Amino acid sequence: MSLERKDEHDHEGWMKERDLTPVETAYLTTLMWLDKRLRLVDYLELLEDLYYKVNMQMPKSHTEQYNLDNKFWYWYPLYALGSFSTIAYVVAAISGALLGFYYSPATAGDPSTAYNSITFLMTEMRFGFFLRSLHRWSAQVMTAAVFLHMLRVYFTGAYKEPRELNWIIGIILISVTMVFGYTGYLLPWDQLAYWAGTIGVNMALSIPIAGEWVAQLLFGGYTLGQATLMRMYILHVFFLPFITTALIAIHIGIVWMQGIAEPH
Ligand code: HEM
Repeated sequence: MSLERKDEHDHEGWMKERDLTPVETAYLTTLMWLDKRLRLVDYLELLEDLYYKVNMQMPKSHTEQYNLDNKFWYWYPLYALGSFSTIAYVVAAISGALLGFYYSPATAGDPSTAYNSITFLMTEMRFGFFLRSLHRWSAQVMTAAVFLHMLRVYFTGAYKEPRELNWIIGIILISVTMVFGYTGYLLPWDQLAYWAGTIGVNMALSIPIAGEWVAQLLFGGYTLGQATLMRMYILHVFFLPFITTALIAIHIGIVWMQGIAEPH
């Protein structure tokens, strides 16, 4: 059996019959070229199928059942906090990726490289202060928005069945948001960073029995040094962005499948 896909339609003939503009022809030709190789249309149909199947399985929402469209809750601003967190996260991710072009955690044994790269950014690079402020502010706005979003979910009772799983994913999300904040706070290696790091190591060391092991694992030793900065850097720019992006996608995917829980 041949794996070659049969073309059911005479696309070129179809295009010739119609009086298409050059832009339309270019668009359709590109689409067909891609479709022949990647079966785009088949996969899109599959997605469309899935969309309808998922939606058919969902019970009618409160709004649909009682015909509450255009009622005030729909515009209730607190329901925007989840989206607001997402937007803040996207701004932080983009500005953070741009900062990554200029920031350097350390060169062999010398963590002051980090501080120097921030000084350069703030004093010499054009709009460097702006980029850094954008990143810091969006990160703080995200933390606040996520916390307020959690309060909204709690006080409207939206965590109840069948949304328990999204509540638990939310708990992980607020935790990674805070770890994001802490690891980022240490990166400039200024006084604030240094002493926040010192508090962190001492907190780790104060854990009974496992304290020294935890300090070693998270901070690379019992005092701060280049190993600490390197750990914070890799967590902040490598691990956390992937984890957070994936979790937000799953979280919003579940909201899409379940619909919003309206206040009753
Ligand atoms: C990075 C952090 C987070 C992002 C980007 C995010 C995003 C969203 C979005 C866009 C929605 C749609 C409804 C709305 O916006 O209010 C939502 C709903 C929800 N979120 Fe979050 N969220 C985050 C953190 C959390 C946290 C910390 C919790 C709780 C511990 C949580 C629990 C929920 C629940 C249970 C729903 C469903 C609410 C409903 O159906 O009314 N989320 N989230």
